[in-house]
Amino acid sequence: MAKKLLITGAGGQIGSELTLAFRKIYGNENVVATDLNPVFSAEITEGGPTDRLDVLDRTKLETLIDKYQIDGIIHLAALLSAVGEKNPQLAWDVNINGTMNVLEVSREKGIKRILIPSSIAVFGPTTPIENTPQDTILQPSTMYGVTKVAGELLGDYYVQKYGMDVRGLRYPGIISHETLPGGGTTDYAVAIFYDAVKHGKYECFLKEDTKLPMMYMPDCLKATTDLFAADFDKLKHHAGFNVGAFSITPKELTESIKKFIPNFEITYKPDFRQAIADSWPNSIDDSAAREEWGWKPQYDLDAMTEDMLHAIGEKHKKGLI
Ligand code: NAD
Ligand code: SER
Repeated sequence: MAKKLLITGAGGQIGSELTLAFRKIYGNENVVATDLNPVFSAEITEGGPTDRLDVLDRTKLETLIDKYQIDGIIHLAALLSAVGEKNPQLAWDVNINGTMNVLEVSREKGIKRILIPSSIAVFGPTTPIENTPQDTILQPSTMYGVTKVAGELLGDYYVQKYGMDVRGLRYPGIISHETLPGGGTTDYAVAIFYDAVKHGKYECFLKEDTKLPMMYMPDCLKATTDLFAADFDKLKHHAGFNVGAFSITPKELTESIKKFIPNFEITYKPDFRQAIADSWPNSIDDSAAREEWGWKPQYDLDAMTEDMLHAIGEKHKKGLI
């Protein structure tokens, strides 16, 4: 079992909370937060080690592994779907070459456990759209999806070829209130809460009936730390576990927000992200994750909405947003 962890891309939407979740379990001093842009919250900076790391800089990765005696890596650094479509070459470079660096350096240094998140973006227009199976067609139509499929295949290859412990899960859209998302297609489901609290209205870049799988951050943290801790011998899959929580359209999310802000209004102005969303599943079959490592989400739509509105409302009252 790994004891000293390094997280790449730790300043992002997920890393800014996942770092603290891992520190709670493994100890503050034993989780090193790194990012290309190492601007972390005071809680992360004051609570434990932080460093700058560009995942394309293999030498620096090796140096940090030696410096902190790292034996586990959570590799979050990536470009997401919408920014990836704007700069597909950079998305390929960071997502593929960054992942290869992490896997190769881990092989050379004998890293005990590596977790690399994947995404519902591995699916595409030819994938069954409802209750998408664990093992199914992976023909994505975005560069982000292409890199995530390759990342899963690489992870599985390192398990089979080198006997390494590589694991990963296909996050749906993650909804949270600590750090803003970094440029994905599911970001509307975060932005809508800020605009609801601040302005009472929101203009959505997806159509009202676009159904996508989503998950609230506390479930994302639990899924990730649970999979990282799972017994390797019980896993039949490795680098790409489906994980679901709830599936929603912008219209359904609006109805949920209206339970707490009755006058909230939404308008729709679909942009290039509509085509990306249309290529992704409506809902996910996560029975493999449930069977192999006990995955079970806790938050449904209304529970998430209530919590998000409360947290963002508090930020607004304090003048932070
Ligand atoms: P994010 O965009 O919020 O954060 C990514 C972080 O990576 C940023 O802090 C950025 O500075 C950093 N980064 C970019 N290039 C880098 C480089 N060359 N070297 C080091 N760091 C670099 O992303 P996130 O939402 O926190 O996503 C984390 C992981 O989860 C990614 O692998 C992403 O594909 C996956 N994921 C996220 C979601 C979601 O809804 N947030 C859904 C599915 C999968
Ligand atoms: N939330 C991510 C995105 O929209 C899914 O991987 O890009």
